[in-house]
Amino acid sequence: MIIKNCKILVDGKLKKVNIQINGSRIGKITSDEIKDISDGEIIDLKGKIVLPGLIDPHVHFREPGLVNKEDFLSGSLAAAKGGITTVLDMPNTVPPTLTVKLLDDKRKLASKSVVNYGFHFGSSKNNLPEIKKVKGVASVKIFMDLTTGDMKIDDKAVLDVMRNSKVVTVHAEGENVKKAVSLINKTKNHLYLCHISTKQEIDYLRKNKASNVSVEVTPHHLFLTTKDEKRLKAYGKMKPGLKSHEDQEALWQAIKEGIVDTVGTDHAPHTIEEKEKNGPYGVPGVETMLPLLLDAVNKKRLSLADVQRLCCENPASIFGIKGKGHIKEGYDADLTVVDMNKIEKVVSDKLLTKSGWSQFEGKLLKGWPVMTIVNGNIVYDNGLVLDIKAKEVKYGIS
Ligand code: DOR
Ligand code: ZN
Ligand code: ZN
Repeated sequence: MIIKNCKILVDGKLKKVNIQINGSRIGKITSDEIKDISDGEIIDLKGKIVLPGLIDPHVHFREPGLVNKEDFLSGSLAAAKGGITTVLDMPNTVPPTLTVKLLDDKRKLASKSVVNYGFHFGSSKNNLPEIKKVKGVASVKIFMDLTTGDMKIDDKAVLDVMRNSKVVTVHAEGENVKKAVSLINKTKNHLYLCHISTKQEIDYLRKNKASNVSVEVTPHHLFLTTKDEKRLKAYGKMKPGLKSHEDQEALWQAIKEGIVDTVGTDHAPHTIEEKEKNGPYGVPGVETMLPLLLDAVNKKRLSLADVQRLCCENPASIFGIKGKGHIKEGYDADLTVVDMNKIEKVVSDKLLTKSGWSQFEGKLLKGWPVMTIVNGNIVYDNGLVLDIKAKEVKYGIS
């Protein structure tokens, strides 16, 4: 396949190139015309921008056990529509992913995913032997606060898990962020802090974050505040919850300063019935993250290079995902085509997540993904979902 007349970021600037894809990999990237096509498909992008496929480091695709909310097929279709080509799935399923056997079961369930996938392994007060055994995971997840799935563990167990996991991904809020940083500093391992949401946490991290710590923010904390809670009711409930305008500004400032490393959706779908009944914590996100960020690029709140760093390059390097995060010869042909001029509203009717609603319903956004390529196959093309050739990711770069 040849993708011609596209623009990619080279050293922070957009450059016109043609990309040749050989099988599942990027073959050649050149500003010259590529002539040596035998029987391959040629796609003329007419000047559209191509990003490395986005890597969402934080999704809850709910399989096994909670498939009324989402499953690997519906969640991954939604991700493909949102320009995401790789997802890392969280362990608070039913049962939680606490043993190698349960991880292998989940691997089988995930094989129906249309985007590439990887897993965060779970932790409990007594699964250390499993943590020591597990291979091929992005990280071990630690819940230091109570949330969906009831997987909170105490400080002694947190330290044991941190000592035995190369990367830990942590749900910590407020004072627990400080605790997580001080505990990781007793080890040689890496701490990935999920969904940082307050100015207080950012101010602490500005002073105390070293290279062994990474920071994620979510689209809902970047684009919504407590002011939206009244309107959204249960649909604005998540953990950590929405914060003040001042907190939100601190997150944007932290992106500018490089304190924030990634944007992750924390895609945590619940059905409308569940939300109306008892308002469980969590909101969907994979279909709206990139449009929200591209809209922000159009509004000059951040640059396209920021989006590429936060959503592609950094997730690949933090979790050591092989062959992804960059548009480079020899890398996997995971590509996201965006139309910076496309204007569309977020409407729940068009969403592919099983949850069927969005906290951004009705929001008019400029800048949308229009085509998603996974391992050299077009999986999403302006509304149509096509080929399925996704794979589990491999780790090993640092
Ligand atoms: O809002 C949330 N929902 N926060 C979490 O930490 C878990 C998630 C879920 O799984 O529903
Ligand atoms: Zn969390
Ligand atoms: Zn989460």
